[in-house]
Amino acid sequence: MSSERTPLIAGNWKMHKTVADAEDLIQALLPRVSTSDGVEVAICPPFTALNAMVDSTRGSRVQVFAQTMHFAAQGAFTGEISAAMLSELDVHGVVLGHSERRALFNETDKALAQKVAAALAAGLTPILCVGETDEERERGDTERKLRHQIKEDLSKVAEAELSKVVIAYEPIWAIGTGKVATPHQAQEAAGFIRALVGDRSKEQSNLVRVLYGGSVKPENAQELLALADVDGALVGGASLEAESFAAIVAAAG
Ligand code: PGA
Repeated sequence: MSSERTPLIAGNWKMHKTVADAEDLIQALLPRVSTSDGVEVAICPPFTALNAMVDSTRGSRVQVFAQTMHFAAQGAFTGEISAAMLSELDVHGVVLGHSERRALFNETDKALAQKVAAALAAGLTPILCVGETDEERERGDTERKLRHQIKEDLSKVAEAELSKVVIAYEPIWAIGTGKVATPHQAQEAAGFIRALVGDRSKEQSNLVRVLYGGSVKPENAQELLALADVDGALVGGASLEAESFAAIVAAAG
């Protein structure tokens, strides 16, 4: 972590928590994260709990993010949600391009380029997820994959706005597997991503936040968060319990 960049710990709840469950979790979480100065904390509940979580976190340090959105302002897209619908709820931002959405719901880089731009235009902070599969890493294609995703997904973002995007490096083989990247692997990829942003703007690359995601737990958070180019974490499983998520927030403080 660098002192120039405020660390962000974001909990991706995925398709977990009814509104009632979400209320229980946030009430347990709020007192546990209230003293972590100098760290931004975010939760990413399912759409149905966004409104309730914005209400419950008002006046606290916890930001609320959605997990996906459509790029169009409105239209005949049954089941989808637009950026304007999210900003109307006072949601802070949106996770875009999570590997589960790419793999299971056919989200493409072309669509993501439009989504990132639409989120920024609506005043939302995008957390853009990128990362390689096991096979791509084995083949030595990690950098090629990251270069492609960063180039395409940020292609519609103006140079001066690059650091408004948060980038989450999430090796797909580490998500939900308990198989965390080594500090060397995480630093190498996060540094590479920062350098890719630097190819467009050196200044923005010093400001942009790069998170690590994939089996982050209280036991491994400290060493990952200490890495020079890792500015926080995107946490899945360990964000579903107040105690483990708060311990990861504390590790960033
Ligand atoms: P995990 O998920 O922490 O459960 O591995 C991370 C993510 O999918 O963002």
